[in-house]
Amino acid sequence: MGFQYFSKCVFLALCILSQGLANGVFGFACNWGTRSTHPLPGDITVKLLKENGFNKVKLFEADPSALKALGKSGIEVMVGIPNDLLASIASNVNAAIQWVSQNVSNYISKNGVDIRYVAVGNEPFLSSYKGQFVQSTYPALQNIQAALIKAGLGRQIKVTVPLNADVYQTDSGVPSGGAFRPDVKDQMTNIVKFLSQNDGPLTINIYPFLSLQSDPNFPKEYAFFNGSAAPVVDGSITYTNVLDANFDTLVSALEKIGFGSMPILVGEVGWPTDGDPNANIQNAQRFNQGLVDRIVKKQGTPKRPTPTDIYIFGLIDEDAKSIEPGNFERHWGIFNYDGSVKYPLNLGGGKTLVPAKGVKYLQKRWCIMSPQASVLDPNLAPSLSKACSVADCTSLSPGSSCGNLDTRANASYAFNAYYQTMNQSQDACQFNNLAMITNTDPSPAQSGCKFNIMIDVGKHRSTSSLAAPRKVLGSMVLLIFSFVFMLLSSLSV
Ligand SMILES: *[C@@H]1O[C@H](CO)[C@@H](O)[C@H](O)[C@H]1NC(C)=O
Ligand SMILES: *[C@@H]1O[C@H](CO)[C@@H](O)[C@H](O)[C@H]1NC(C)=O
Ligand SMILES: *[C@@H]1O[C@H](CO)[C@@H](O)[C@H](O)[C@H]1NC(C)=O
Ligand SMILES: *[C@@H]1O[C@H](CO)[C@@H](O)[C@H](O)[C@H]1NC(C)=O
Repeated sequence: MGFQYFSKCVFLALCILSQGLANGVFGFACNWGTRSTHPLPGDITVKLLKENGFNKVKLFEADPSALKALGKSGIEVMVGIPNDLLASIASNVNAAIQWVSQNVSNYISKNGVDIRYVAVGNEPFLSSYKGQFVQSTYPALQNIQAALIKAGLGRQIKVTVPLNADVYQTDSGVPSGGAFRPDVKDQMTNIVKFLSQNDGPLTINIYPFLSLQSDPNFPKEYAFFNGSAAPVVDGSITYTNVLDANFDTLVSALEKIGFGSMPILVGEVGWPTDGDPNANIQNAQRFNQGLVDRIVKKQGTPKRPTPTDIYIFGLIDEDAKSIEPGNFERHWGIFNYDGSVKYPLNLGGGKTLVPAKGVKYLQKRWCIMSPQASVLDPNLAPSLSKACSVADCTSLSPGSSCGNLDTRANASYAFNAYYQTMNQSQDACQFNNLAMITNTDPSPAQSGCKFNIMIDVGKHRSTSSLAAPRKVLGSMVLLIFSFVFMLLSSLSV
């Protein structure tokens, strides 16, 4: 009797747990970018994802270490194809077959990765690309779909194309006027029709931050979800934030070509914390908290009240990302480069962000400008250029976290960034005798400016081979336990 009661309790607990999962209590999605000089190790990143409730992740390319770490994690994966592969995949179905075999089938069969989507290209129709991928995207999409079917994956994996919101516009200034950009309208129509026939969604990247950053007249409050901006009235609908308005502009554009109920994913949305006056902790926390609240509440937009998957951009900062769009590009993470928490986020259900665990760092050592060196030394400027051409100095830009340092501290920041990027090698702290190594943290007190220490990538590599068997053993024990519980409870019910 006592046992029966106990096993029923266990059964109930399991039911509640799985119900919770099905309800999406732990259901966030994000982009995992890997353009870092010292990437956070894959196993630690996957644990970070799981502990923070991310059960869907998007990769920009088939990064081997990320994919291997995602194997048997329970996380659903979208794998991207970079734009520079589109032309070859478009012109030759065998290239598509090769890509699917090497970068999809392999990881499913050998590593147990739960791949659900292949994203063909990344914002290939972006205006600033001046049309260079416009002709290859659609044929590449067709070839990848054919290759997935050939590999027996046509049901399990859906194709999509992540597009920037600049593929549509509205001439009337309100969402109902939405239409595809004239130069890509035909291609968009082909792609949408093809995706629809193959049950693939359209993926759209929407950046309220970029609206604000690129337009000095943009009403700042309209970028946020709880802002006090004057609402935009569109017929019977009132828009209070640009994300809703932008998404519904796409819905209108789709209606105009006859695909008004086409499924849409939000492939990227987020807010950076540094590298621009509008990119700071307060704005990022405000925006992302509003975004998370919507996801938790399962809120859609006025024209699409049913919620969709929203992939937050991004998980962690990437110090080697291209800064062509701006210095903020390396600071989109909700976590710092090392998986530490930048700012708290309430994830619903009493949960808040938790940091990565088990990260190994290089020594507690920094490189700074030597007190004996003069700020008038003619070697200073070339030394700074050298440091910042290799290392990430974006936090020094005006309006950024280290934008107010004096010349000496500014130089120290650049020297240290270089020294850390070069794995603290002795000769990386020379700079014509302008620099020296210190054991005292030079980060200025009471400011958001931090002189970081890099991740010890080598130490992680040498220990990861030891950690793997213990993990497998752990999950086997868990599996056996749950099997015994199920057996016992089914006997006693
Ligand atoms: C698999 O993906 C990687 C990363 O994008 C790429 O370098 C490689 O060429 C791909 N393999 C094939 C066969 O296309
Ligand atoms: C909006 O929400 C953020 C985060 O929840 C909060 O800090 C801020 O005070 C709110 N602002 C307004 C105008 O309500
Ligand atoms: C700080 O360093 C950056 C990068 O080298 C440089 O562009 C900037 O002029 C420096 N600012 C000051 C105040 O020295
Ligand atoms: C830093 O160390 C890691 C691990 O040993 C290595 O892969 C990487 O290339 C090194 N970086 C530099 C710039 O030497």
